[in-house]
Amino acid sequence: MTLQFSLGNAAPETVACACVAVGVYEQGVLTSAAAQVDSAIGGLIKRQMDSGDISGKAGSSTLLFAPAGVAAGRVLVVGLGAQKSFDAARYQKVNIEAARAAGKLPIAEMVSFLTEVDVPGRDSAWRVRIAALASDHATYRYEATFKPREKPRQAQLKSITFAAGADAQIGLDQAVAIAEGVRFARELANLPPNICTPAYIGEQAQAFARGQDNVSCKVLDQVEMEQLGFGSLLAVGRGSVNKPRLIVLEYKGGNDGDKPYAFVGKGVTFDSGGISLKPGAGMEEMKFDMGGAAGVLGAFVAAVKMGLKLNLVCVVPSVENMPDGDSYRPSDVLTSLSGLTIEVLNTDAEGRLILCDALTYTAQTFQPQAMVDAATLTGACVVALGKHATGLMSKHDDLAAELLAAGEETLDRAWRLPLWDDYQTQLDSGFADVANIGGKSAGAITAACFLSRFTDGQRWAHLDIAGTAWEDGRKGLATGRPVALLAQWLLDRAG
Ligand code: BES
Ligand code: MN
Ligand code: ZN
Repeated sequence: MTLQFSLGNAAPETVACACVAVGVYEQGVLTSAAAQVDSAIGGLIKRQMDSGDISGKAGSSTLLFAPAGVAAGRVLVVGLGAQKSFDAARYQKVNIEAARAAGKLPIAEMVSFLTEVDVPGRDSAWRVRIAALASDHATYRYEATFKPREKPRQAQLKSITFAAGADAQIGLDQAVAIAEGVRFARELANLPPNICTPAYIGEQAQAFARGQDNVSCKVLDQVEMEQLGFGSLLAVGRGSVNKPRLIVLEYKGGNDGDKPYAFVGKGVTFDSGGISLKPGAGMEEMKFDMGGAAGVLGAFVAAVKMGLKLNLVCVVPSVENMPDGDSYRPSDVLTSLSGLTIEVLNTDAEGRLILCDALTYTAQTFQPQAMVDAATLTGACVVALGKHATGLMSKHDDLAAELLAAGEETLDRAWRLPLWDDYQTQLDSGFADVANIGGKSAGAITAACFLSRFTDGQRWAHLDIAGTAWEDGRKGLATGRPVALLAQWLLDRAG
């Protein structure tokens, strides 16, 4: 069940619905919607702020049940924090908290006036887009049927109406498309690896393509890739009974002759490390190692749903990395699709080994005007940037700037690391053209350096989402990042 969104312009004190959400800042400052409600209910909000019962702290919320004087059944008073420091990130946060709070109430509909709050430098379409995406994110529940049943609830939040004028409709339409892509990515990434195999991802891509007019999908299997020479990708997949796939989606929304934009996403459905086996603790998180694949597929879904006037391809190399008698091993030398030979020094540095062949294939087959890959590539990126920023590496300053801007716009932010040639010597090998690991230092960068060897002449950028693709902990879910960033980047390109 997905949330429905609409726009409305009724007054907060007269709108008839189960719940209205209004914002209050710290230090007793009411937004205009809160002030209107407050005067209709005899100053109840102000009194509770004076008494300290409503703090106005960012992310806090207080429910007033059926206060006399308003048409709504409930008033959800949402804290916005200090007014003078209110910014875009805080705006997103309070919308998440409001939707989360509403999701716990026995109500099916809410009218939110948070979209009327002033956010410096942002217009109403932006506010509605972020509010809708934040609400959808906050109320997402993993839908796969083998999850233990949750207690049936009295009612479930089904729709939110945002207070905004018709000028915000475009923002809402974009949000609905992007939210669909985000949900597609999250659902796929949350699945266990015994279900979500390379073949399964291929089937999901094909199922999506079947329902769309200008989308086609091709899935290459092991035999087809052998014939083409995917020596690096296939070596990684050899240890698993779940055989590799290369998934290729094409969307034609632009003119026939227009070069496509290209996404490439790391689709390791489970990364045990292979013969260079990972430690046991936390290994279960490596089901998310197809987060890059989920992210680019989700962004593809969003682009198609927005009907963007451009051509787009999405290429997903998918394997499972397992130890086995037939596994590839440290010291193996592989011949990649590009012809470059690779010395394997660690079978746990497998992402770059499947991406290099996919990048070569994408460049050769489509001559894209720009190529962006997304991958849960290195633990080193998590050390460098933590769980908040995606790592961005590119030799193309203009492309890097476009992606950083798209991340800022959607609050799905990336931070750039250098991709200077100074780091390249860390990949020197005595036995092949390049080694698959670069030693102790700058692990996120040397991984990108490895990929750069396979993108000569391409306008290419790499997103390391190892820290951002899922949330920590037992119950940590896939985040759907970087769907919003990538979708926004395309939206900006389509003009
Ligand atoms: N999928 C991992 C990277 C990863 C680790 C993502 C932890 C998220 C959390 C990747 O395949 C990997 O194992 N990378 C190694 C590279 C090393 C062997 C050079 C790593 O980061 O340790
Ligand atoms: Mn690995
Ligand atoms: Zn991996």
